[in-house]
Amino acid sequence: MKILVPVDGSKYSVEALKTAVNLAEKFNGSIVLTNVQKRVVSRPKSMEFDVEEFIEDDPDTLRDRGRKLLDKIAEQMEGSSFKVEKCLLLGDPAEKILECAEDHKPDMIVIGSLGLTGVRKFLMGSVSSKVVSHSPFPVLVVKTKK
Ligand SMILES: Nc1ncnc2c1ncn2[C@@H]1O[C@H](COP(=O)(O)OP(=O)(O)OP(=O)(O)O)[C@@H](O)[C@H]1O
Ligand SMILES: [Mg+2]
Repeated sequence: MKILVPVDGSKYSVEALKTAVNLAEKFNGSIVLTNVQKRVVSRPKSMEFDVEEFIEDDPDTLRDRGRKLLDKIAEQMEGSSFKVEKCLLLGDPAEKILECAEDHKPDMIVIGSLGLTGVRKFLMGSVSSKVVSHSPFPVLVVKTKK
């Protein structure tokens, strides 16, 4: 069983990963860890002149950040019986998670209900909502106990 796990580094995504690891161990599975680095485009507020319209994070910096996160997480799973793959993408998180799913055709996506923003009054974050709504693959949403 191939399980795709989107991770943003939040405790919620770590919780989702724990669930995925349990499933992978039980069902002779493999895990695809996916991280998307959001390309934040911002207009500097204090800029009086239209010299530079937007400031965008440097792709290399973003890739570096994502790779470090994926390496750290994968490190914790070293020595496990299942295969772990890493998938790092830049762009809109939900869109890219779904693209990565199209590539890997997982049996299941295991995702956290919330993420780095983590506002508890919301049942789900925007990324998990979009993935649940648009994924052609089954999605398991892992809720963290209070
Ligand atoms: N950039 C990302 N890369 C990979 N997975 C992500 C990313 N962002 C979110 N996820 C996945 O989606 C889950 C829910 O996070 P989501 O971003 O939807 O919630 P939030 O951060 O609380 O709210 P929002 O981002 O809408 O402000 C996370 O636990 C994680 O599994
Ligand atoms: Mg988020």
